[in-house]
Amino acid sequence: MNDMTPNFSQPAYSDTAKKLLDRKPQLFIGGQWVASSDGKTLEVEDPSSGKVIGHIVDASDRDVDRAVAAARAAFDDGRWSGLPPVKREALLRHLADLIEAHADELAELEAIDNGKPVSMARMVDIPGSVNQLRYNAGWATKLAGEQIQPSNAPEGAFFAYTRKEPVGVCAQIVPWNFPLLMAVQKIAPALAAGCTVVLKPAEQTSLTALRLADLVAEAGFPAGVFNLVTGNGETAGDRMVRHPDVDKVAFTGSTEIGKIINRAATDTLKRVTLELGGKSPVIVLPDVDPAQVGPAAANAIFFNSGQVCVAGSRLYAHKDVFDDVVEGLSKAAPGFAPRPSLDPKGRMGPLVSKEQHERVLGYLEAGRRDGASVLVGGDSPSDTGYYVNPTILTDVNPQMSVVREEIFGPVVVVQRFDDLDAVAREANDTPYGLAASVWTRDVSAMHRMAAKLKAGVVWGNVHGGLDPALPFGGFKQSGIGRENGRQGIEGYLETKSVFVKL
Ligand code: NAI
Ligand code: MG
Repeated sequence: MNDMTPNFSQPAYSDTAKKLLDRKPQLFIGGQWVASSDGKTLEVEDPSSGKVIGHIVDASDRDVDRAVAAARAAFDDGRWSGLPPVKREALLRHLADLIEAHADELAELEAIDNGKPVSMARMVDIPGSVNQLRYNAGWATKLAGEQIQPSNAPEGAFFAYTRKEPVGVCAQIVPWNFPLLMAVQKIAPALAAGCTVVLKPAEQTSLTALRLADLVAEAGFPAGVFNLVTGNGETAGDRMVRHPDVDKVAFTGSTEIGKIINRAATDTLKRVTLELGGKSPVIVLPDVDPAQVGPAAANAIFFNSGQVCVAGSRLYAHKDVFDDVVEGLSKAAPGFAPRPSLDPKGRMGPLVSKEQHERVLGYLEAGRRDGASVLVGGDSPSDTGYYVNPTILTDVNPQMSVVREEIFGPVVVVQRFDDLDAVAREANDTPYGLAASVWTRDVSAMHRMAAKLKAGVVWGNVHGGLDPALPFGGFKQSGIGRENGRQGIEGYLETKSVFVKL
């Protein structure tokens, strides 16, 4: 090893992190930490080193049943939905404050568990979680039905109105790319609405969710309102989705599992919201300053190692600016050279797991075989840990798997266009429809493109950035339903019509 070879050893964990990694594998059910029924556990790995650093419970069917029973009891006796809404609001705000007070610790834990740079966790994941709670806390006191005049009855003959009631017990299953943020984004609207929840984090990244359960207990939520089970998707997750005492399933993850969940929830006709995959286009019109757009396009794909459902994984640049934009992107890529997650200067970490590492390298292999050229990256810089270099693929065509499928890694495919209608068609030529960005100073072109793109969110001159107030979700196979905003909280409410003859 010479001086130029980067060192991929993970810096030492803090004493606080070490203590948290040592915690006994337990579940949080009915307001208490409990052992699992059969003692099965899963290993926790640090993807920056590939080392096993702890254990979590792999929940059994009995564990899941127990958690659902606790949530059911807490819902049915009204200890949560029956509270004055202002009390629910106050508890959600209290939880937000506790997360904020533990931000450094949570950011370190997230970095260790997921592999993302600790600075990113501190800047994005933790404040994002706090904002989700504060935004949704406000809804608790603003849920209301309406008084309606029946259309086919004389004025004064009936008094009719709608009530907004919480759906009930919610099974919430979240992925590993933004573990705490996804967990909080799920529980915040559900709890604000008066639902009770059983949350299952991803088996790869459960550490911050366990810490979240500590903070829920500290905040003083009534027992059984929030329950946490850790474990495998095909077992614990599946049990949650099929459980007859669960009223609603909310899932974020792969389109493949989303379809399985939707089918499994059909027997009991549960309410289902799904936030699934994407293959989001970044569309650069000819009037832009390529010096600015190139680095922005790099951030759109390399942020969080490309493990982002809205990652800008397909770059379409107009032929007049194509060379300059791609040059800017290539120059920015080395700035994302992967580093261990606790390196304070790192801007990109390893991928989350061996499985994901193999999947992404498999796509790169397929891309080469199909005739794509590797302009930058295309390989793994270290034998330890799950690092993949930021990668740019050119000479691609719309039939290649690297263009069609979600890679969920730091890999962007670049293509040129010369006509706005044609690029809109190409951008829409995908089973996904989650997000897109358009880069131009031409406001008319911007809004015309925004209308043409089949995606749940279209950004202008920025890529990424979700806000708790703005509805988020997918067209086509990117999902069902919307999170965030009024629509997000509506997803946790039933509407009841009351019709009284006077
Ligand atoms: P996954 O969809 O299998 O896992 C997400 C969550 O679903 C985890 O909590 C898992 O335990 C749970 N789960 C898995 N199978 C289940 C089942 N049968 N019933 C109930 N719950 C179940 O995602 P995975 O396998 O980790 O990643 C595969 C691909 O999925 C990635 O390469 C990426 O393309 C995509 N993905 C998309 C995400 C997004 O934010 N839209 C997040 C994570 C992965
Ligand atoms: Mg899976």
